[in-house]
Amino acid sequence: MNRFRYLSVLAALGLTLLSGCSSPPGQPRKGSETLAPNEVLEFGTLFGQNCAGCHGAEGRGGAAIALADPVYLGIADDAAIRKVIANGVHGTSMPAFAQSAGGMLTDKQIEVITSQIRSRWSRPGILNGANPPSYAAKSTGDNQRGEVAYKTYCASCHGTTGQGGPKGSAITNDSFLALISDQELRTVVITGRPELGAPDWRGNVPGKPMSDQEITDVVAWLASHRVQDPGQPYSASNPQHQDSAENSSSGQLREGHDLGRAANR
Ligand code: HEC
Ligand code: HEC
Repeated sequence: MNRFRYLSVLAALGLTLLSGCSSPPGQPRKGSETLAPNEVLEFGTLFGQNCAGCHGAEGRGGAAIALADPVYLGIADDAAIRKVIANGVHGTSMPAFAQSAGGMLTDKQIEVITSQIRSRWSRPGILNGANPPSYAAKSTGDNQRGEVAYKTYCASCHGTTGQGGPKGSAITNDSFLALISDQELRTVVITGRPELGAPDWRGNVPGKPMSDQEITDVVAWLASHRVQDPGQPYSASNPQHQDSAENSSSGQLREGHDLGRAANR
């Protein structure tokens, strides 16, 4: 190879290298930077990191309901879903994600999650002709009618009083009720938990879908089992509890104990 050709090849190579490099040496190449958490707009990452722990991988359900449920998405609109994601549900484990509510996600990220839950997991038209109940209750429910509805539609699986049965867990249990909102009870009665074998509002009694009013009433009946101090192993009428309450109010043991705790603080 003669000297001239050698140089021109080098020059061509140099040009190619230069034109291929858009950023100066030492700087990361385009696309190789790690995004700051509030810049992530990829649905899979956002859902995986923030939601899947409770709502399941791919939204298929976990401790909390499946969001990849076309029946749920046929009933809940974007406004309802967005509101829950942004503000959470007070008194339950559903956290608030909007920065305005103390969360970590931007409005843009919440919009990506809300819109893609629908675009990926809904099946438009799935409830055509099904006359679906409304997402939110339209009236206050009636306990007594709710009990009748419970016996008709639910007792076969959840037991005669909601204490749990062969096919469904305890749903009048005070600890369970303390951690779930009335809306969520309604949602679950409407959509069921398909991933766990719980029927939707049409399937409890084959051929006899629940009416909107029956759903409202059964939720009122369930909610009537809420108690002031959920999760207490004893009640005031329990003699053992009364004994210990008397002992501690008259005895010095309690005072000493409290003092000890105060000193430890
Ligand atoms: C720590 C657990 C947890 C995490 C994390 C979580 N959720 Fe929830 N979510 C819940 C629970 C529990 C409920 C039911 C709350 C209630 O009782 O109303 C719920 C309810 C909801 C609802 C309303 C369901 C209805 O009845 O309409 C939506 C929508 C929702 N979550 C979306 C999300 C999304 C999206 C994320 C991630 C950005 C997320 N959740 C993260 C636990 C969680
Ligand atoms: C064919 C049996 C069956 C019928 C009928 C049925 N359920 Fe269920 N239900 C289930 C199963 C299975 C689950 C999911 C596993 C569990 O929690 O027991 C469930 C879950 C639930 C949950 C959620 C529990 C949780 O852990 O999140 C509620 C609330 C509930 N059912 C209420 C009702 C009500 C109210 C009715 C009547 C309107 C009803 N169910 C009718 C089988 C049934």
